[in-house]
Amino acid sequence: MEKIVILTGAGISAESGLGTFRDKDGLWTKYPLEDVATPEGFARNPALVQDFYNLRRVGAAAAKPNPAHIALARLQTGWPGEVVIVTQNVDGLHEAGGATGVIHMHGEIAGALCAFCGHRWRAPDEMQVAEPCPACAGPGGRPDVVWFGEIPYHMDTILRHLGEADLFAAIGTSGQVYPAAGFVQEAAARGIPRVEMNLDPSETSPVFTEHRIGPASETVPAWVAEFLNPAGG
Ligand code: OAD
Repeated sequence: MEKIVILTGAGISAESGLGTFRDKDGLWTKYPLEDVATPEGFARNPALVQDFYNLRRVGAAAAKPNPAHIALARLQTGWPGEVVIVTQNVDGLHEAGGATGVIHMHGEIAGALCAFCGHRWRAPDEMQVAEPCPACAGPGGRPDVVWFGEIPYHMDTILRHLGEADLFAAIGTSGQVYPAAGFVQEAAARGIPRVEMNLDPSETSPVFTEHRIGPASETVPAWVAEFLNPAGG
């Protein structure tokens, strides 16, 4: 086996204290996603949207990687083949845990994007309404995150990796948001093993070939240890 592609979602960061979206008390039970995670919501009420992401930026900056993030970084260094991490998360906890080359398909909360000229820069802790772009000076600054109705980043690269993968794993994702939820189908079409690590069965559980139910901080290090040391000795 050469290449492992791993998709992660909010569940991998839950034990670092960052909320998930759809669990009980999840973010989308408190903030309607139409208001804070769509271009239309931003056009209607940019202050609300900037405040929502400002809060999350501070939370993400204060959070620490948990044993699941750290175990994936260990897999990357210990595995002789390639380990590609694709995350839907906008926090930087994979990198904080030591992972490299992480593909952020839904963008990054630490980044700012100019809606006018497309320039990207490091977001200040608190972005303002009409945040000025350092490149074009227009008031188009927004969080560099992908909203509903927008196309996720790096899809060509992700599909190429999936097309070359020998194993697919998904960790802490409810399998409700496409295109990420469809990656397991791509893997199934190629007949490669598909491992799901989640607290409960997800929408796409039936398409996986192996299930490890439990908190990611336990299931992921155990899986990585088995992988790197199959004899268990
Ligand atoms: P969800 O909140 O939809 O799902 C989180 C999943 O993680 C659920 O299936 C939980 O059971 C599981 N989970 C919770 N705690 C866990 C733990 N400690 N260990 C393992 N699993 C745990 O989050 P995502 O699937 O990441 O997109 O959501 C996908 C996208 O929807 C997000 O990237 C975001 C959101 O709307 C945008 O904002 C565009």
